[in-house]
Amino acid sequence: MSPQFATIPGAEPLRLVVVGAGAMGRNWMHVVSETPGVELVGVVDLDAGAACRAVAASGTTAVAGSSLSVVAAETGADAVIDVTAPQAHRAVNTEALRAGLPVLCEKPIAPTVAQTMALIAAAELTGQLLMTSQSRRYYPQLARLKGIATTLGDIGLLTTEFFKAPRFGGFRDEMDDPLLVDMAIHAFDVARYLLGTEAQSVDCRSFNPSWSWYRGDAAASADFEFDGGARFVYTGSWCSPGLETSWNGAWRISGAHGSAAWDGEGEPVSEPAAAPEADPATGREEIAGALDEFVSALRTGTIPSGEVHSNIHTITMVEAAVRSARTGRRVALDGVLQAAYRAALAEEADDDLRAVLASWGSADDAIARLR
Ligand SMILES: NC(=O)c1ccc[n+]([C@@H]2O[C@H](COP(=O)([O-])OP(=O)(O)OC[C@H]3O[C@@H](n4cnc5c(N)ncnc54)[C@H](O)[C@@H]3O)[C@@H](O)[C@H]2O)c1
Repeated sequence: MSPQFATIPGAEPLRLVVVGAGAMGRNWMHVVSETPGVELVGVVDLDAGAACRAVAASGTTAVAGSSLSVVAAETGADAVIDVTAPQAHRAVNTEALRAGLPVLCEKPIAPTVAQTMALIAAAELTGQLLMTSQSRRYYPQLARLKGIATTLGDIGLLTTEFFKAPRFGGFRDEMDDPLLVDMAIHAFDVARYLLGTEAQSVDCRSFNPSWSWYRGDAAASADFEFDGGARFVYTGSWCSPGLETSWNGAWRISGAHGSAAWDGEGEPVSEPAAAPEADPATGREEIAGALDEFVSALRTGTIPSGEVHSNIHTITMVEAAVRSARTGRRVALDGVLQAAYRAALAEEADDDLRAVLASWGSADDAIARLR
């Protein structure tokens, strides 16, 4: 189905409230402040003091508070950027949507596929845009790699190697699956972007090297089969000092007529060399690129790439990979979606949202409309 959402016509700057004043929330506040056509009018955090400190550091006159509904009403907000911890995304996004506000939410849109289904229901009920910021989609070099990929004929194999050794401290060190859930999600999403199709199944193994400073598995290898037969193989480690890759990882595409590679930072290369083409890839990078696509969607009605009906397939890749790593078996993504739909229906406490979920029909019907 093609999702529909309310647009915000006009030339007045969009009045934005940032929810979540942690490290990433402050990054978002900075990007909003330097973006023409938008205005930071509010900052919300469960910790009102954190919201106040973030506003003071931003040098803006944004209203700080601990209640999204109160700050949004007081400021006449047009839209919300949700930069809270993943566990809070469902509640914050739903509160915003039900207040009639579109949302741009940090990845992951929700911790589970079932919760993402509930958010799709909330977007449909309210008619508001719900978009995930998958910030690693927004690189001109990546757009050029995708352009090159179209010259290679059928694609047989797409690979990513990701090797870093960051010492974050904090929640990532305590997660069960820090690499797959917090980082590989970016590469899985980019694989969907490059191949232009959806993953069908995955065989994944994860493990924790003996020297790892993470509690959960910091290394993994995942082999996805995509619609049409292309394979995407991801190999990564978050405790791999020496010869580190870029944060985007190192990519290679093997097609019927040639190959392309991208180190995640410089220009992509290919053999045979792809003919230069008109280059539309001039947009801003990372979260600034996501903000621009969100604003453009609200102004024009164009469906953004991270719209939740599509982005659920990225969440499903992560959940299926984790399930495969736990069971040691290849996992079908349709099975994950079907189980999530049943769980979402069974767990939804809100009558209106449950009615939307129920209107999708059987589990088969529910996932068919997401395809
Ligand atoms: N795209 C990227 O490259 C990237 C990088 C880092 C973080 N992130 C994402 O950004 C999000 C935030 O990450 P972070 O590192 O800033 O986390 P953080 O823990 O530093 O900050 C989260 C903030 O949200 C607040 N919060 C939690 N629940 C809330 C609620 N219900 N209402 C209002 N405020 C609430 C917390 O008090 C905290 O201040 C996560 O989803 C994370 O995955 C993305």
